[in-house]
Amino acid sequence: MILRFFDPFLVLFLLFFTQFASLQAFTGTYGINYGRIADNIPSPDEVVTLLRAAKIRNVRIYDADHSVLKAFSGTGLEIVVGLPNGQLQDMSSNADHALNWVKENVHAFLPETRIRGIAVGNEVLGGSNDAWWGALLGAAKNIYNATKKLHLDKLIQISTANSFAVFSNSYPPSNCTFNENIVQYMKPLLEFFEEIGSPFCLNAYPFLAYISDPEHIDINYALFQPNKGIYDQRYKRHYDNMLDAQIDAAYAALEDAGFDKMEVIVTETGWASAGDQNEVGANASNARTYNYNLRKRLAMKKGTPHRPKNVVKAYIFAIFNEDSKPGPTSERNYGLFKADGSISYNIGFHGLNAGDSSHLSLKDINNQGMSRSYTITIILCLSALTLMIF
Ligand SMILES: *[C@@H]1O[C@H](CO)[C@@H](O)[C@H](O)[C@H]1NC(C)=O
Ligand SMILES: *[C@@H]1O[C@H](CO)[C@@H](O)[C@H](O)[C@H]1NC(C)=O
Ligand SMILES: *[C@@H]1O[C@H](CO)[C@@H](O)[C@H](O)[C@H]1NC(C)=O
Repeated sequence: MILRFFDPFLVLFLLFFTQFASLQAFTGTYGINYGRIADNIPSPDEVVTLLRAAKIRNVRIYDADHSVLKAFSGTGLEIVVGLPNGQLQDMSSNADHALNWVKENVHAFLPETRIRGIAVGNEVLGGSNDAWWGALLGAAKNIYNATKKLHLDKLIQISTANSFAVFSNSYPPSNCTFNENIVQYMKPLLEFFEEIGSPFCLNAYPFLAYISDPEHIDINYALFQPNKGIYDQRYKRHYDNMLDAQIDAAYAALEDAGFDKMEVIVTETGWASAGDQNEVGANASNARTYNYNLRKRLAMKKGTPHRPKNVVKAYIFAIFNEDSKPGPTSERNYGLFKADGSISYNIGFHGLNAGDSSHLSLKDINNQGMSRSYTITIILCLSALTLMIF
């Protein structure tokens, strides 16, 4: 009798729980990018060990590599996979290819591998290949429709990461708008993302801004160190670090384009620990300072001066130094870890090898969000259950 009475409530409870738990593609505030353009980095299984030791839950990869998706199975790690730029045109013109891609690279690994998002292309708008600009929206729509057909649209968030090339006038933050050459592609894309509840994904690098103008930018402003900061007249807000200013610049551009409600998520940020002669400031002590202070900034679970209620969430770039990346030396030196699995510098994480341990106590930083969001979920579910009973 008791069982028959309780069963429907239990079912409702579970439904409510899974529904609620699936709304967020991001747990806590700290995530990391797992780039693999290297021939000497640890195996995906070792990466799982590393990430679990560091208590990092949110991971992005730039493709949908099956060895990675298998290694992440049953680990609780939440992963966003990437549809590479080279496939955008095909996915845009062939809905059936998009369906197959989602079947083979997402559906086949669920639920054991907790895939929570698909990044459709990377830094497409404003990038060098403008043939991709026009294919981005069609690809995003076809990929979304595929998730819908497979009943995954409530679980998998569709997005695309933007570089600063999509903006003009990003100083001061309130002055930022979308660049005229991409706005015709950006607006319909944002309309679609607004409709399906996706955030605006930003790759934000105070490092790149700093090295482009080291004479005029205070490195302490870029590194979250004490400095006099900048004042934004229109927002009447003071900024003491550049990352907050970059995020609010994105909010300003979104407002200017009519998207006041869209959330900004930082999908990449980091600092190179080595660089070429002309990449001033690319060294291990600055990289450590940036990444250490960034961890503290994210652990505060605070918004920005202009959007105090939108807690800043960011994926660090990146886990490893990637030796096969082209471009300036900095490109191969963003890793929190070296290719051998040891730490690049000490921000409280542990390397793969025994003995490579840190002496920092970062317990407060380490407990990023997980326990809190689950507690809230459970409390909400319990109150919902209580409401249903009475
Ligand atoms: C997506 O599916 C809807 C119906 O579910 C359809 O109206 C729409 O045309 C589809 N979009 C694309 C791009 O295929
Ligand atoms: C805002 O951007 C414009 C360029 O479009 C520039 O002329 C102006 O000086 C900027 N405003 C401020 C306060 O810097
Ligand atoms: C790193 O660069 C800063 C300047 O940005 C400099 O003051 C510092 O000495 C450098 N550190 C190392 C270890 O080279």
